[in-house]
Amino acid sequence: MNRIAYRNCRIAPIDASQQPRDTVHALVIGSGASIEWVGNDRDIPSDLAITGQVDLGGRLVTPALIDCHTHLVHGGNRASEFEMRLQGASYEQIARAGGGIMSTVNATRGRSVEQLVAEALPRLDAMLAEGVSTVEIKSGYGLNIETEINMLRAARRLGEIRQVRIVTTWLAAHALPPEYAGRADAYIQDVAITGLRQAHAQRLVDTVDGFCESIAFDRDQIARVFDAARAMGLPLRLHAEQLSNSGGAEMAARKGALSADHLEYLDDRGIAAMARAGTVAVLLPGAYYTLRETQAPPVDALRRAKVPIAIASDANPGSSPLTSPLLTMNMACTLFGLTPAEALAGMTVNAARALGLGDRGLLQVGMRGDLAVWDVEHPAELACRMGFNPLWKRIIGGQA
Ligand code: NIG
Ligand code: FE
Repeated sequence: MNRIAYRNCRIAPIDASQQPRDTVHALVIGSGASIEWVGNDRDIPSDLAITGQVDLGGRLVTPALIDCHTHLVHGGNRASEFEMRLQGASYEQIARAGGGIMSTVNATRGRSVEQLVAEALPRLDAMLAEGVSTVEIKSGYGLNIETEINMLRAARRLGEIRQVRIVTTWLAAHALPPEYAGRADAYIQDVAITGLRQAHAQRLVDTVDGFCESIAFDRDQIARVFDAARAMGLPLRLHAEQLSNSGGAEMAARKGALSADHLEYLDDRGIAAMARAGTVAVLLPGAYYTLRETQAPPVDALRRAKVPIAIASDANPGSSPLTSPLLTMNMACTLFGLTPAEALAGMTVNAARALGLGDRGLLQVGMRGDLAVWDVEHPAELACRMGFNPLWKRIIGGQA
């Protein structure tokens, strides 16, 4: 039985009013991969039978970061659309002209699982290099059953070849492919629901998502996918209120969704429903930034209603080509007005909650020993700097 003491560190408090500076902490992680003891370095109980010690040199320790909303697996890139938007075309105009999500679908449909893995790997590695332990990855660029399933196979494979927990999400209700033009209800039944059954039978699905928007699917269509998912015992999330208010977040909350994501156009009804249901608000500043949106999500109202706020990269080739969790934290503060402590909670404890994972995101006894060790004085530095990575080491399940 291995039991390692990580000593001489400072633990970043989740509550910003507490300063991490003065106390020298230690954490003890057993071979069961969970934290068995945490406290003042001087007070490690002598009867813990510690088998090894690591001196963290006084560095700052946070829970390893969690990116709870990504589209990391896909073929190709959309740099040309970046140029079109710089010349004035909007995201919606590009999507309606057959670009946007559909252009990535065309690039993804031709790829094998191996190719999808190879293309996603550098993106995943960029995240891991910034202290990430857990990444959610969605399908949604196949829009036929075979490719949607291949995307989730690629996501599962990434979790086997890197030390990371991957949470997979079925997002076939992401856009309507041209072969179903004018037949959205049939697409929901034939692909989004039938494919979900097949993918679930192959144990490829951890959560189920949809895109509720005028350029995607309406509330009733998403609700049908959600009802099928609930019957399979799968948790729900939703892309909602990104470009307009279609009441998606309220519907998702009523169905007990773990999270509603984007939320720039969320209204008071949606907030109240989310507060009642304990649905996490996942804010995606990378998409807001990339699309040069002007309406920010209602952060103050979410705070007042005590809706937990998570943040995520939304890493995707179109609306958020962002694979840096640290820059995500920076943008959440600069663009949405989160405090650095809220941004850190948004990428740890609240991100875990958005994924329904109760075993991570906090440095407490019983939680997984997933740590990020940083060469910084104060946790606010993680959100403050841009383009600089102060990660010293990632410790996953107690393994450095
Ligand atoms: O989360 N909003 C919808 N889906 C993605 C964008 C996907 C894309 O543009 O490729 C998002 O922003
Ligand atoms: Fe997204």
